[in-house]
Amino acid sequence: MDQYCVFGHPIEHSRSPFIHQMFAQQTKQQLSYEKKWVELDGFTQVITDFIAKGGKGANVTVPFKEQALQICDQLSQAAKRAGAVNTLSFIDGKILGDNTDGIGLVQDLLRHKVKIADSNILLLGAGGAAKGVLLPLLRKKPKNIIIANRTASKAKLLSEQFSIYPVVGCGFDDIPFSEFDIIINATSASLTGTFPDISAQLIHAKMTCYDMVYSKELTPFLQWAKAQGAAKVFDGLGMLVGQAAVSFNIWRNVTPDVETVINALRADIAKS
Ligand code: ATR
Repeated sequence: MDQYCVFGHPIEHSRSPFIHQMFAQQTKQQLSYEKKWVELDGFTQVITDFIAKGGKGANVTVPFKEQALQICDQLSQAAKRAGAVNTLSFIDGKILGDNTDGIGLVQDLLRHKVKIADSNILLLGAGGAAKGVLLPLLRKKPKNIIIANRTASKAKLLSEQFSIYPVVGCGFDDIPFSEFDIIINATSASLTGTFPDISAQLIHAKMTCYDMVYSKELTPFLQWAKAQGAAKVFDGLGMLVGQAAVSFNIWRNVTPDVETVINALRADIAKS
Protein backbone atom coordinates (compact mmCIF):
# COMPACT_ATOMS: atom_id res chain seq x y z
CA MET A 1 0.00 0.00 0.00
CA ASP A 2 1.34 3.46 -0.86
CA GLN A 3 2.52 5.30 2.23
CA TYR A 4 2.15 8.98 3.09
CA CYS A 5 2.85 10.86 6.28
CA VAL A 6 2.85 14.32 7.85
CA PHE A 7 5.97 15.32 9.76
CA GLY A 8 6.03 18.05 12.41
CA HIS A 9 6.98 19.13 15.92
CA PRO A 10 4.45 19.22 17.58
CA ILE A 11 2.20 16.87 15.58
CA GLU A 12 -0.32 15.24 17.96
CA HIS A 13 -3.13 17.68 17.04
CA SER A 14 -2.66 17.29 13.28
CA ARG A 15 -5.91 16.59 11.42
CA SER A 16 -4.12 15.64 8.20
CA PRO A 17 -4.52 11.84 8.65
CA PHE A 18 -8.28 12.29 9.18
CA ILE A 19 -8.52 14.44 6.04
CA HIS A 20 -6.38 12.25 3.76
CA GLN A 21 -8.01 9.02 4.90
CA MET A 22 -11.39 10.54 4.02
CA PHE A 23 -10.05 11.64 0.62
CA ALA A 24 -8.74 8.10 0.01
CA GLN A 25 -12.10 6.50 0.86
CA GLN A 26 -13.97 8.99 -1.25
CA THR A 27 -11.76 8.47 -4.34
CA LYS A 28 -11.27 4.70 -3.71
CA GLN A 29 -7.49 4.99 -3.43
CA GLN A 30 -5.48 2.37 -1.54
CA LEU A 31 -3.08 4.27 0.69
CA SER A 32 -2.01 4.85 4.27
CA TYR A 33 -1.45 8.29 5.81
CA GLU A 34 0.12 8.72 9.24
CA LYS A 35 1.52 11.47 11.42
CA LYS A 36 4.99 11.47 12.89
CA TRP A 37 6.67 13.64 15.52
CA VAL A 38 10.24 14.54 14.56
CA GLU A 39 13.13 15.70 16.75
CA LEU A 40 14.11 19.28 15.93
CA ASP A 41 17.46 18.15 14.47
CA GLY A 42 16.11 14.97 12.90
CA PHE A 43 14.12 16.09 9.87
CA THR A 44 16.48 15.12 7.02
CA GLN A 45 17.17 11.69 8.52
CA VAL A 46 13.48 10.96 9.04
CA ILE A 47 12.71 11.82 5.42
CA THR A 48 15.63 9.68 4.18
CA ASP A 49 14.34 6.73 6.24
CA PHE A 50 10.75 7.25 5.03
CA ILE A 51 11.88 7.22 1.39
CA ALA A 52 13.97 4.07 2.04
CA LYS A 53 10.85 2.34 3.43
CA GLY A 54 8.97 3.16 0.24
CA GLY A 55 7.18 6.40 1.22
CA LYS A 56 5.53 8.05 -1.79
CA GLY A 57 4.91 11.52 -0.41
CA ALA A 58 4.73 13.65 2.71
CA ASN A 59 3.31 16.79 4.20
CA VAL A 60 5.57 18.98 6.24
CA THR A 61 4.40 21.29 8.98
CA VAL A 62 5.86 23.64 11.60
CA PRO A 63 8.81 24.08 12.04
CA PHE A 64 10.23 22.11 9.10
CA LYS A 65 8.78 23.85 6.03
CA GLU A 66 11.98 25.84 5.31
CA GLN A 67 14.21 22.81 5.89
CA ALA A 68 12.01 20.81 3.53
CA LEU A 69 12.80 23.32 0.80
CA GLN A 70 16.53 22.65 1.26
CA ILE A 71 16.29 18.90 0.65
CA CYS A 72 14.34 19.12 -2.62
CA ASP A 73 15.80 18.33 -6.05
CA GLN A 74 13.04 20.26 -7.78
CA LEU A 75 10.70 23.03 -6.56
CA SER A 76 7.42 24.42 -7.83
CA GLN A 77 7.09 28.16 -8.41
CA ALA A 78 4.76 28.37 -5.38
CA ALA A 79 7.36 26.74 -3.13
CA LYS A 80 10.14 29.01 -4.40
CA ARG A 81 8.08 32.15 -3.81
CA ALA A 82 6.88 31.00 -0.39
CA GLY A 83 10.41 30.00 0.61
CA ALA A 84 8.80 26.94 2.17
CA VAL A 85 7.54 23.46 1.23
CA ASN A 86 4.50 21.71 2.70
CA THR A 87 4.21 18.89 0.14
CA LEU A 88 6.95 16.45 -0.83
CA SER A 89 6.71 13.81 -3.57
CA PHE A 90 9.27 11.05 -3.91
CA ILE A 91 9.53 10.04 -7.56
CA ASP A 92 12.32 8.01 -9.26
CA GLY A 93 14.87 8.81 -6.55
CA LYS A 94 14.12 12.53 -6.65
CA ILE A 95 12.43 14.79 -4.07
CA LEU A 96 9.92 17.26 -5.50
CA GLY A 97 8.68 20.12 -3.34
CA ASP A 98 5.50 22.16 -3.57
CA ASN A 99 3.55 24.57 -1.40
CA THR A 100 -0.23 24.23 -1.45
CA ASP A 101 -1.11 26.54 1.49
CA GLY A 102 -1.76 29.61 -0.64
CA ILE A 103 -3.92 27.77 -3.18
CA GLY A 104 -5.82 26.28 -0.22
CA LEU A 105 -6.62 29.79 1.03
CA VAL A 106 -7.61 31.11 -2.40
CA GLN A 107 -9.87 28.11 -3.06
CA ASP A 108 -11.50 28.50 0.35
CA LEU A 109 -12.21 32.20 -0.22
CA LEU A 110 -13.75 31.35 -3.61
CA ARG A 111 -15.78 28.53 -2.01
CA HIS A 112 -17.20 31.16 0.35
CA LYS A 113 -18.02 33.25 -2.76
CA VAL A 114 -15.54 35.96 -1.80
CA LYS A 115 -14.39 37.94 -4.85
CA ILE A 116 -10.60 38.39 -4.88
CA ALA A 117 -10.23 40.01 -8.31
CA ASP A 118 -10.19 43.81 -8.04
CA SER A 119 -10.52 43.75 -4.26
CA ASN A 120 -8.58 45.66 -1.61
CA ILE A 121 -6.96 43.16 0.72
CA LEU A 122 -5.41 43.77 4.12
CA LEU A 123 -3.04 40.95 5.03
CA LEU A 124 -2.07 40.94 8.71
CA GLY A 125 1.31 39.40 9.52
CA ALA A 126 4.61 39.11 7.68
CA GLY A 127 5.88 35.70 8.79
CA GLY A 128 5.91 32.40 6.91
CA ALA A 129 2.12 32.11 6.78
CA ALA A 130 1.70 35.54 5.15
CA LYS A 131 4.56 34.97 2.73
CA GLY A 132 3.11 31.63 1.62
CA VAL A 133 -0.23 33.06 0.51
CA LEU A 134 0.94 36.23 -1.27
CA LEU A 135 1.63 34.85 -4.74
CA PRO A 136 -1.55 32.74 -5.04
CA LEU A 137 -3.60 35.78 -3.90
CA LEU A 138 -1.80 38.09 -6.36
CA ARG A 139 -2.48 35.64 -9.20
CA LYS A 140 -6.20 36.36 -8.68
CA LYS A 141 -5.51 40.02 -9.51
CA PRO A 142 -6.62 41.98 -6.44
CA LYS A 143 -6.50 45.79 -6.73
CA ASN A 144 -4.11 46.10 -3.77
CA ILE A 145 -2.62 44.04 -1.00
CA ILE A 146 -1.54 45.96 2.07
CA ILE A 147 0.68 43.86 4.34
CA ALA A 148 0.46 45.20 7.90
CA ASN A 149 2.61 43.76 10.63
CA ARG A 150 3.25 44.50 14.33
CA THR A 151 6.91 44.93 13.33
CA ALA A 152 6.52 47.31 10.38
CA SER A 153 10.03 46.71 8.98
CA LYS A 154 9.22 43.03 8.34
CA ALA A 155 6.11 43.96 6.34
CA LYS A 156 8.11 46.46 4.29
CA LEU A 157 10.81 43.89 3.61
CA LEU A 158 8.24 41.32 2.48
CA SER A 159 6.48 43.84 0.22
CA GLU A 160 9.81 44.61 -1.47
CA GLN A 161 10.03 40.96 -2.56
CA PHE A 162 6.77 41.48 -4.47
CA SER A 163 7.55 44.96 -5.82
CA ILE A 164 6.31 44.18 -9.34
CA TYR A 165 2.82 43.79 -7.85
CA PRO A 166 0.48 46.31 -6.13
CA VAL A 167 1.75 45.42 -2.65
CA VAL A 168 2.57 47.84 0.19
CA GLY A 169 4.05 47.03 3.60
CA CYS A 170 3.36 48.99 6.81
CA GLY A 171 2.77 48.82 10.57
CA PHE A 172 -0.64 48.52 12.26
CA ASP A 173 -0.70 52.28 12.93
CA ASP A 174 0.01 53.49 9.42
CA ILE A 175 -2.31 51.37 7.27
CA PRO A 176 -2.73 53.70 4.27
CA PHE A 177 -6.51 53.55 3.82
CA SER A 178 -9.53 52.00 5.41
CA GLU A 179 -11.84 50.65 2.69
CA PHE A 180 -10.89 46.98 2.59
CA ASP A 181 -12.98 44.19 1.06
CA ILE A 182 -11.05 41.40 2.74
CA ILE A 183 -8.91 41.22 5.89
CA ILE A 184 -6.84 38.06 6.30
CA ASN A 185 -5.25 37.32 9.65
CA ALA A 186 -1.99 35.50 8.90
CA THR A 187 -0.42 36.30 12.29
CA SER A 188 0.02 33.62 14.90
CA ALA A 189 -1.75 35.82 17.50
CA SER A 190 -4.83 33.52 17.68
CA LEU A 191 -2.63 30.71 18.95
CA THR A 192 -1.97 32.71 22.12
CA GLY A 193 -5.57 33.84 22.52
CA THR A 194 -5.03 37.37 21.20
CA PHE A 195 -5.53 39.23 17.93
CA PRO A 196 -3.67 41.94 15.99
CA ASP A 197 -4.10 45.40 17.44
CA ILE A 198 -5.65 47.14 14.41
CA SER A 199 -8.18 49.97 14.36
CA ALA A 200 -11.85 48.95 14.71
CA GLN A 201 -12.61 51.52 12.00
CA LEU A 202 -11.18 49.10 9.44
CA ILE A 203 -14.16 46.77 9.97
CA HIS A 204 -17.45 47.24 8.12
CA ALA A 205 -20.49 45.07 7.55
CA LYS A 206 -19.92 44.09 3.91
CA MET A 207 -16.32 42.95 4.18
CA THR A 208 -14.91 39.46 4.69
CA CYS A 209 -12.70 38.71 7.68
CA TYR A 210 -10.67 35.50 7.43
CA ASP A 211 -8.45 33.88 10.04
CA MET A 212 -5.95 31.33 8.73
CA VAL A 213 -6.16 29.60 12.10
CA TYR A 214 -9.23 27.57 13.13
CA SER A 215 -10.57 26.44 16.47
CA LYS A 216 -13.67 24.92 18.04
CA GLU A 217 -15.07 28.34 18.90
CA LEU A 218 -14.63 31.43 16.74
CA THR A 219 -10.99 32.63 16.93
CA PRO A 220 -10.25 35.79 18.96
CA PHE A 221 -9.76 37.85 15.78
CA LEU A 222 -13.06 36.70 14.28
CA GLN A 223 -14.93 37.26 17.54
CA TRP A 224 -13.57 40.80 17.62
CA ALA A 225 -14.35 41.46 13.92
CA LYS A 226 -17.90 40.19 14.40
CA ALA A 227 -18.36 42.43 17.45
CA GLN A 228 -17.26 45.38 15.27
CA GLY A 229 -19.97 44.53 12.74
CA ALA A 230 -18.33 42.25 10.15
CA ALA A 231 -21.04 39.97 8.74
CA LYS A 232 -18.82 37.47 6.91
CA VAL A 233 -16.23 35.82 9.14
CA PHE A 234 -14.48 32.56 8.20
CA ASP A 235 -11.81 30.50 9.91
CA GLY A 236 -9.00 28.49 8.31
CA LEU A 237 -10.57 25.03 8.49
CA GLY A 238 -11.52 25.19 4.82
CA MET A 239 -8.00 26.32 3.97
CA LEU A 240 -6.57 23.31 5.83
CA VAL A 241 -8.77 20.89 3.89
CA GLY A 242 -8.17 22.86 0.66
CA GLN A 243 -4.38 22.67 0.90
CA ALA A 244 -4.67 18.95 1.69
CA ALA A 245 -6.85 18.43 -1.40
CA VAL A 246 -4.21 20.07 -3.61
CA SER A 247 -1.49 17.86 -2.06
CA PHE A 248 -3.69 14.78 -2.62
CA ASN A 249 -4.12 15.78 -6.25
CA ILE A 250 -0.35 16.19 -6.72
CA TRP A 251 0.22 12.66 -5.39
CA ARG A 252 -2.79 10.80 -6.76
CA ASN A 253 -3.86 12.87 -9.78
CA VAL A 254 -7.46 12.99 -8.59
CA THR A 255 -9.34 15.91 -7.00
CA PRO A 256 -11.30 15.02 -3.87
CA ASP A 257 -14.46 16.81 -2.76
CA VAL A 258 -13.59 19.19 0.07
CA GLU A 259 -17.10 20.09 1.24
CA THR A 260 -17.94 16.69 2.78
CA VAL A 261 -14.56 16.55 4.52
CA ILE A 262 -14.89 20.10 5.91
CA ASN A 263 -18.30 19.18 7.35
CA ALA A 264 -17.02 15.92 8.85
CA LEU A 265 -14.00 17.66 10.36
CA ARG A 266 -16.12 20.47 11.83
CA ALA A 267 -18.38 17.84 13.43
CA ASP A 268 -15.37 15.94 14.77
CA ILE A 269 -13.88 19.11 16.29
CA ALA A 270 -17.21 20.01 17.90
CA LYS A 271 -17.16 16.62 19.71
CA SER A 272 -13.60 17.03 21.02
P1 ATR B 1 4.09 31.93 10.85
O1 ATR B 1 4.93 30.96 10.08
O2 ATR B 1 2.90 31.34 11.54
O3 ATR B 1 3.74 33.13 10.03
P2 ATR B 1 6.16 33.44 12.14
O4 ATR B 1 6.99 33.43 10.91
O5 ATR B 1 6.80 33.28 13.49
O6 ATR B 1 5.02 32.36 12.09
O7 ATR B 1 5.34 34.83 12.14
C1 ATR B 1 4.40 35.16 13.11
C2 ATR B 1 3.64 36.41 12.65
O8 ATR B 1 2.60 36.68 13.59
C3 ATR B 1 4.51 37.66 12.62
O9 ATR B 1 4.03 38.51 11.60
C4 ATR B 1 4.27 38.25 14.02
O10 ATR B 1 4.50 39.64 14.10
P3 ATR B 1 5.99 40.22 14.41
O11 ATR B 1 6.74 40.08 13.12
O12 ATR B 1 5.78 41.60 14.82
O13 ATR B 1 6.54 39.32 15.49
C5 ATR B 1 2.79 37.98 14.16
N1 ATR B 1 2.31 37.96 15.54
C6 ATR B 1 2.51 37.02 16.48
N2 ATR B 1 1.86 37.34 17.63
C7 ATR B 1 1.20 38.52 17.39
C8 ATR B 1 0.35 39.35 18.17
N3 ATR B 1 0.03 39.05 19.42
N4 ATR B 1 -0.13 40.48 17.59
C9 ATR B 1 0.19 40.79 16.33
N5 ATR B 1 0.99 40.04 15.53
C10 ATR B 1 1.50 38.91 16.06
